[in-house]
Amino acid sequence: MKKIAKIVVAALALSMVASMAFAGGAQQKSKVQVGIVLPTKDEPRWVQDETRFMDALKGQANVEILFSQGDSGKEKQNVETLLTKGIKVLIICPQDGNAAAAAADAAKKEGVTVISYDRLITGTTAVDYYVTFDSVSVGKAQAQYLVDQLPAGTKGASLYLYAGAASDNNAFLFFQGGWEVLQPLVANGTFVIKNSAEAVALQGKKNLERAEMAKIIGQITTEWNFDVAKKKAADNLTAATAKDKGDCYILAPNDGTARAIADEFAKDKDVSKYFVTGQDAEKASVQYIIDGKQSMTVFKDVRTLVRDAVKMASDVLAGKTPVTTGAYNNGKKDVSAKQTEVVTVTQKNVKAALIDSGYYPASDFTGL
Ligand code: BGC
Repeated sequence: MKKIAKIVVAALALSMVASMAFAGGAQQKSKVQVGIVLPTKDEPRWVQDETRFMDALKGQANVEILFSQGDSGKEKQNVETLLTKGIKVLIICPQDGNAAAAAADAAKKEGVTVISYDRLITGTTAVDYYVTFDSVSVGKAQAQYLVDQLPAGTKGASLYLYAGAASDNNAFLFFQGGWEVLQPLVANGTFVIKNSAEAVALQGKKNLERAEMAKIIGQITTEWNFDVAKKKAADNLTAATAKDKGDCYILAPNDGTARAIADEFAKDKDVSKYFVTGQDAEKASVQYIIDGKQSMTVFKDVRTLVRDAVKMASDVLAGKTPVTTGAYNNGKKDVSAKQTEVVTVTQKNVKAALIDSGYYPASDFTGL
């Protein structure tokens, strides 16, 4: 099908969804009640969220989903478009947590309830709720996996650290969790950090301030971009001596960057073995895990996150107070949050966790 035709069909499908009723809003049939704004279609993670939203909303929503394509300006425009359509609830995953404060403020001014989705909007009081995975646990699970691969009595294992985009609050939470687990083993010489002078300078400190994490992340960021991740890994390997390689332990923040980084380490003749972390259980990484090219991923069941966000939105529309389980500080307020747990997936449990559970069909993979 031609691209334009596909877009028309997709738009029609969306407007059909949009013309159905959300939780008793039948009298407002023509209106969009819930607006959803996602960061980009360029990463499988967010396309997966769109699909799961469409599945969850079948037959019950006046909803429109828009993508910001990695651009905070477009994100603000998307929010304004949805406001003119009369939304009552905005579910938004910000491209840049700070920049999105302006969009949240604009929504709040119109009396719209703002739900931050997966990533927290920072620096504004205009966020009402936050639906998220336990992101500190994601980093802990990644780091613990690396620790569990160490042969007993190891000293001086080569550790390479990578992080997400500094504009994403989650990048800090993931790194915080990872650092809490790894730092004691760096401090006692089990691991040696090979690719970040900023991290080495802080290796004696377990609980880092945000500004300290920002310094390290500034050096090891992938910007959530595969090409940046690939180049950073290649540069790190070029700068390292053969002695800095051998068996390598790599903290990679998510699946897309893990595959890019893994490909570079796999090519290096001085790397005898590598262990690399990930997150999201993207299909391409599930195949990498089956093939032994990526060591683990942290599975975040997007169906649960979507279900929580949709439930929260329908509670708000019904005038009920949504159920929350904790709070996250966004620099301006403690935002009430509903948090979901995560699961470590390796070659050992990949079939049980992702196929037998019905998350993905077995036919999407080879060599299971
Ligand atoms: C999400 C991850 C995702 C990353 C890059 C984070 O905020 O929590 O699931 O891989 O952004 O898009």
